[in-house]
Amino acid sequence: REKKMLTGKKVLVSAGPTKEIIDPVRFLSNHSTGKMGFALAEAAHQLGAEVTLVTGPVQLETVEGIKRIDVVSAEEMNKAMLDHFAGQDIVIKTAAVADYMPKKQYQHKLKKQPGDLQLEMVRTPDILKGLGEKKTTQYLVGFAAETREIERYGREKLERKQLDAIVINDISSMETGFGSDDNAVHFISKQGANVTLPQASKQRIAEQLFTEILKEVELNDR
Ligand code: C5P
Repeated sequence: REKKMLTGKKVLVSAGPTKEIIDPVRFLSNHSTGKMGFALAEAAHQLGAEVTLVTGPVQLETVEGIKRIDVVSAEEMNKAMLDHFAGQDIVIKTAAVADYMPKKQYQHKLKKQPGDLQLEMVRTPDILKGLGEKKTTQYLVGFAAETREIERYGREKLERKQLDAIVINDISSMETGFGSDDNAVHFISKQGANVTLPQASKQRIAEQLFTEILKEVELNDR
């Protein structure tokens, strides 16, 4: 039997939104469904990798053989990613992490008051940036949603977060991105790749992304 391309490799994927708790009944979150991250985790699993999937709250099932870690907040996702980072070969961050969280978590339900309410927000940790700083041999891939100047913003983020590659979601189209079954992306890498993957299912995009990633990981191994 032919050896699969990722046999013996460890792949860590983050997926989904994060939920930032305000009080026992309220939270802040976003529209991420986790589909792209789950598709990448499944593609890696099919290629023979040992896959760990760290996911925010989503409505998706994990296929057998993938190690799934459920988290809620950006801080929990940060901890789970840092805990599992060592020893990974490829790390892909598709999660739509909240950039801000409420400064205070209320233990009891906030009561309606006359007038307006001001909620103070503080920054969450930039998980990807932290991983970039900790990186030894991991091939680190970030995701970004842009509507314009895709290449310029992509390259900036690649450098600022010390990534090996960045996948830019074209969110200027209605058929792709958040919640949809399809995606359309650009893959830009430190080694100089600049590949456009036109609209296709998130499963197909995931396979194509691993083809690009593998070209570069194999070069590193030589
Ligand atoms: O800078 P921006 O948020 O657009 O970068 C997106 C990338 O950074 C994604 O891969 C996302 O998972 C990651 N990210 C992160 N921690 C944050 C915000 C974004 O890891 N707090």
